[in-house]
Amino acid sequence: MYKLIKEGKASIKIPVEKKVSKELPVFYNPVMKSNRDVSVLLLNSINKKSMQIGLPLSASGVRGIRFLLELKKAKVKNISFNDLNTTSYKLIKQNLKLNKLKNKIKVYNKDANNFLLSSKGFDYIDIDPFGDPSDFLDSSMKRLAREGILAVTATDTGCMSGTFPKPCLRKYWSKPLKNEFMHETGLRILIRKVQLIASQFDKALTPIFSYSKEHYFRTFLVCEKGKQKVDDIMKQHGYIVYCKSCLYREPTNHIFNKVCPICKKELDYAGPLWLGSLWDTKLSKTMKKLTKEKALQSFLTTISKESQINKSCFYNIHKICKHYKIDSIPKKEELIKAIRKTNNCSETHFDALGLRSDISLKDLIEILRH
Ligand SMILES: C[S@@+](CC[C@H](N)C(=O)[O-])C[C@H]1O[C@@H](n2cnc3c(N)ncnc32)[C@H](O)[C@@H]1O
Repeated sequence: MYKLIKEGKASIKIPVEKKVSKELPVFYNPVMKSNRDVSVLLLNSINKKSMQIGLPLSASGVRGIRFLLELKKAKVKNISFNDLNTTSYKLIKQNLKLNKLKNKIKVYNKDANNFLLSSKGFDYIDIDPFGDPSDFLDSSMKRLAREGILAVTATDTGCMSGTFPKPCLRKYWSKPLKNEFMHETGLRILIRKVQLIASQFDKALTPIFSYSKEHYFRTFLVCEKGKQKVDDIMKQHGYIVYCKSCLYREPTNHIFNKVCPICKKELDYAGPLWLGSLWDTKLSKTMKKLTKEKALQSFLTTISKESQINKSCFYNIHKICKHYKIDSIPKKEELIKAIRKTNNCSETHFDALGLRSDISLKDLIEILRH
């Protein structure tokens, strides 16, 4: 049984579901509309034309159909849809017909890696798997063009955020940490893994827009070629050390000392992970300006602000107040104002109670107490 839905400018035939799961004859998750909205917005905001787009895991085809209907005309040279599931393959064709789309399109029914490796390459590849994207990274890197963009979704956030540390070590070659900023460290672990795979092919992948939302992480990275550029990326891999006893945290390239400099207790850490910026500030601003959707607007406004603060990891104000027995928690806006007298500070999309700032823990506690 199928039904017709509207998402963005696309009309899409999808299975009637009781529950969204990978057992559906063709996968469609309405929660991921915002994921697709952001993709459309990002491609409309970057300075790229005549793109060859590869969608190795297309499911119903909704993402590519929205690209064809919602991206500015000159943006797309062609789109190649692919899905291993034969029912998906047939439905993609039906959905293209339903939207009267004929030109600039190819549809394949192959394994994603075969699809990528048998192609001539793409300017934009979107990896949107069930769970872990690792299986598809190698072939994506081989077929990602110079200046091309790789978009990666990962839904196995529990592993990168520290609920399942062993699979994180096995799959992402990094130690996660379950604490108040676990989603940020998780996202940074994912980015480093993508960059390591790229480095094997002398490709340097820099994140231009990354976020954590609902049950998934998402990152868009731009590809440059060259050994020096890869070395520069590697220099920005490191750790975030964390002290459970006093809540001290600090990004660092090397862990020389496992003792907390404040309370002298043992430090824990997350990493190795990406310590560079998660966003291109200018792009975040453009995306914020371009969106007309209310919910997305406030999300992008927060990201656009935090993209200007050059600091990995954030403070959860409630946790700090509770830990240091500070009874009167200030209003977020007032606290931001007070911190900004001496430091940079903004809210963060990772946590409604979080603040991204380059202020030290000691100075922050001082402000909270007074
Ligand atoms: C999470 S869904 C993709 C959702 C889609 N991108 C969207 O925005 O609606 C993952 C898709 O990957 C397909 N798939 C899983 N393993 C695959 C493989 N090895 N090669 C090609 N397709 C695969 C599944 O059939 C499913 O349609």
